[in-house]
Amino acid sequence: MVNSLTAKTKHTGTVHEHFYEPRGGCKEVLESRDEEVLVSGPAGTGKSRACLEKIFAICLMTPNVRALMLRKTLRSLGSTALVTWRNFVIKEALVTGTVVYYGGSSQEAAQYRFKNGSTVTIGGLDNPTRIMSSEYDVVYVQEATEISIEDIEMIKTRLRNWAISFQQLIMDCNPGSDKHPLLLRCKDNRCLLIESRHEDNPRLFNLDGTLTERGAKYIAILDSLTGVRYKRLRLGLWVSSEGVIYEEFDPALHVLDWDYDDAGNRLPLPDEWPRYWVIDFGYSHPFVLKCYAEGPDGEIYMYREIYMTGRTVAEHAVTIMDVVTTAAVTRWWDHINKVERTREEIKWLEPHPTAVICDHDAEDRRTFEKATGLGTIAAIKDVSIGIDLHKDRLKPDGQGYPRFYLMADALVERDEILATALRPVCTQDEYSSYSWKVDKDGRKLDEPIKKDDDGVDCDRYLTMHLDYRGKARITELTY
Ligand SMILES: Nc1ncnc2c1ncn2[C@@H]1O[C@H](COP(=O)(O)OP(=O)(O)OP(=O)(O)O)[C@@H](O)[C@H]1O
Ligand SMILES: [Mg+2]
Repeated sequence: MVNSLTAKTKHTGTVHEHFYEPRGGCKEVLESRDEEVLVSGPAGTGKSRACLEKIFAICLMTPNVRALMLRKTLRSLGSTALVTWRNFVIKEALVTGTVVYYGGSSQEAAQYRFKNGSTVTIGGLDNPTRIMSSEYDVVYVQEATEISIEDIEMIKTRLRNWAISFQQLIMDCNPGSDKHPLLLRCKDNRCLLIESRHEDNPRLFNLDGTLTERGAKYIAILDSLTGVRYKRLRLGLWVSSEGVIYEEFDPALHVLDWDYDDAGNRLPLPDEWPRYWVIDFGYSHPFVLKCYAEGPDGEIYMYREIYMTGRTVAEHAVTIMDVVTTAAVTRWWDHINKVERTREEIKWLEPHPTAVICDHDAEDRRTFEKATGLGTIAAIKDVSIGIDLHKDRLKPDGQGYPRFYLMADALVERDEILATALRPVCTQDEYSSYSWKVDKDGRKLDEPIKKDDDGVDCDRYLTMHLDYRGKARITELTY
C-alpha cells in the first residue's frame, strides 16, 4: 500500500528486487502527501530520481494507479528523466516484465504499463491533447520552472483518479530567479517547497559527509561555473540574473511551442516564410548553426539548432543537409531507347536559406560552402550595436509581442559532453547567463564576458543582418 511507503524503499517480489535509499530533501519528497510539492536544489542532488522512485513505488504497490510524467517538451524528457527512469528506477522491472513499454498510438500517449494495471504515461506540455484528456493520481513535472502557472493549474484539474488515498503534483527544478512565479507560489503557501542538497545524493557524498571520488569530480565541475549559473547550480540559490545582457529575455514570452498534427508530428513553419541560417564556427567551443524563419510582420522564429563540440565543419554540413534534404528518385520512360530510366536527385524538404551568415573564418566558410553547395556571407560583428538592436527585438511591443522567438526544443542533437560539464547545451541556456564584464570594483563594463556566447552571437548576427542600416553592411569579407 502506498501508505506503507517508508524512507528506505526495498521492493522484493517473487521476481525482482529494487533498492533505493533516499536522504534529506529527497526523503521528504517520498514521504510528502501534500497536493502540490516542488523539490528545488542545485544540479545533481537526486531530485528527479526521488520523484521517479516515488512514482515507481506507488505504481508497484497499488493496482490501477495512473501516473503522468511530464516536461515542457517530450523530447527534453526523453534525454533526461526518462534515462534515469529506464536505467535506474525500472531497470529490474523491465527485465522481469513487471513493467513493459507501450509506444502509444494516434489516440493514446506512450506509457509504461505495470503488471498490476498501473500505468505511467509520458508526455510533453507542448502537445498536451493526448495526455490531458485522462485522469491521474500523481503527476510529476520535471524542470517545472520551464512551465507556466496556468499549466500547473491545468494539470491539477486532472488529479482525480483516486486509486490511492492522496492525489499529488510533484515538481522538481534547479532554482531560477528570486521573482520566479513558482517560488512566489511556494512563498504564498500554495505549494510545499522542499530543498535538496548535494549531500542527499550518495553518489556524491558518503553518509559521514565526505565526498566520494565521483562527487569530488562533479563538485569540481560545479565550482568552475561562474555568475548566476554558479549560484543556482552549485549553491542552489534562487537569484536574479544581475548583470545579464539580455534581461528582456523571458522563456515564457520568447520560447514558443510547436503545433502538432494528429499523429503527434511537429507541423513545420510555413514555406512562404523566408529562411536564414547563421553559423558560429567552433570545435572545442560549440559549433552553432541555427535556422530561422521570418514571419509576415518581420518577426523571427529560430526553429532549428546544431550546438555541438568536437566535430568538424564537414561533419556538421552533412548533418544539416541530412535534415533539410532527402534523396528523391525520379523515373521516366525513355521513348527513344524504350527503357525506363531513373535519376536520383536531392530534394529540399524546406525552403533554401535566403542567406547563410557566418563568422569570419574563411577556411571554415569554404568547407561549408563546398559541402552544401550554398554561398555564405560574413556576419556584421559590431558587438554593442548588435546587442542594442537585438534587445530591441526582444522587447515586447505595445501589444505585448516581441519580434524574436525561439521554438521550443529546436536542438538537432544534445551534446552529452557539454551536458556532463554542466555547460549550456543550447542557446536558450545561454540567455540567462550571458553577462557584462565588471571591473574590480564591481562596476559594469560595456563589454560582454566572452563565455557561453556562441548561440546568442548567432542571434545577434541575424538581427544585425536584418535590422542594421549602417555603413558596416558593405564591409563584406571577400576571400
Ligand atoms: N539515493 C540515490 N541512490 C543512488 N543513486 C542516486 C540517488 N540519488 C540520485 N542518484 C543518481 O544520481 C544521478 C543524478 O540524480 P538526478 O538526475 O536525480 O539529480 P537531479 O537533482 O535531478 O539533477 P539536475 O539538477 O541536473 O536535474 C542519477 O544518475 C541518479 O540515479
Ligand atoms: Mg533532474
